[in-house]
Amino acid sequence: DVIAGRKVVLVSKDTTGPAPEIAKRLAQEAVVRDKVDFLAGFGLTPEALAVAPVATQAKKPMIVMNAASSIVTAKSPYIARVSMTLPQVSAPMGTWAAKNGIRRVFTLVADYAPGHDSEAAFKTTFTAGGGQVIEAVRTPLKNPEFSPFVQRIKDAKPDAVFVFLPAGEQGIAFMKSFQERGLAKAGIRVIATGDLTDDHVLPAMGDAAVGMITTFHYSAAHDSPENRAFLDAYRKATGDQGQPNFMAVGGWDGMAAIAEVVKRLGGQVDGDRAMTVLKGLKLASPRGAISIDPETRDVVQTVYVRRVEKVGGQYRNVEFDRFPDQRDPGR
Ligand code: PHB
Repeated sequence: DVIAGRKVVLVSKDTTGPAPEIAKRLAQEAVVRDKVDFLAGFGLTPEALAVAPVATQAKKPMIVMNAASSIVTAKSPYIARVSMTLPQVSAPMGTWAAKNGIRRVFTLVADYAPGHDSEAAFKTTFTAGGGQVIEAVRTPLKNPEFSPFVQRIKDAKPDAVFVFLPAGEQGIAFMKSFQERGLAKAGIRVIATGDLTDDHVLPAMGDAAVGMITTFHYSAAHDSPENRAFLDAYRKATGDQGQPNFMAVGGWDGMAAIAEVVKRLGGQVDGDRAMTVLKGLKLASPRGAISIDPETRDVVQTVYVRRVEKVGGQYRNVEFDRFPDQRDPGR
């Protein structure tokens, strides 16, 4: 409520969907009319890219709580990212798959910057480990129709399909098509970034998701005192609406970063001094310890390998292996 004598005021604006122009206009409004000290949020890469020049011009720290293509932090010296990057979570999947007997992979990603980043990072580590990407397809960001792509995957007979799709409805639609066309029965596995098995959508995927291996920075099933406190706070704030997902954790850690900056600056928030605090900042996140790389202003963290399991009647991303100290390999 109050940090270093400053009243905390949250001004919320909603782009209502992938809308970079609206994001830019709302950010300008936040700076000029609402006189905010920080810009924060940014679920989608194109929206973060559209707002970056506003942050630069106004010298306002911009805390990215999700948008995950590598290029984002390069677009303004006032950006710090607390979420993840697609290369950061995709590269470990390539290494893990190659080490675990997967040889021929078909890749399917959403056709925009995060998908392109994911496809490239997976391929680099997977081929370095001796694997082969036999085919790569990109699906439209808006209203994709997965059946024809899924049929192509089936015909190509890979050991596995590697998938990046923005978390939410798309993953559910993809898995539905995957089941309907009998790919699981044909012995084709799904490996993916954890966007596909987002803790919010797992209940909707049901048994189709069980056994799926993903790499990611956050699982609601992560076992730590920080995560238990977060789960508790989330339950109180939302009235018990299921599990928090990685975007919720991005929001939580972003708020923690802002609070820390305001505290260390004694309430006198100035863009350049804020960035000095953010560079190298360490936080005890619900996902584990994270820090902000002082050079790139991007998050450094452990990436976990997880398997979807049904635990006590609930679908969970259960962590069983880890890649510590991962930086963004995409820049
Ligand atoms: C994005 O950067 O646009 C992005 C990344 C990961 C998601 C969704 C959106 O799951």
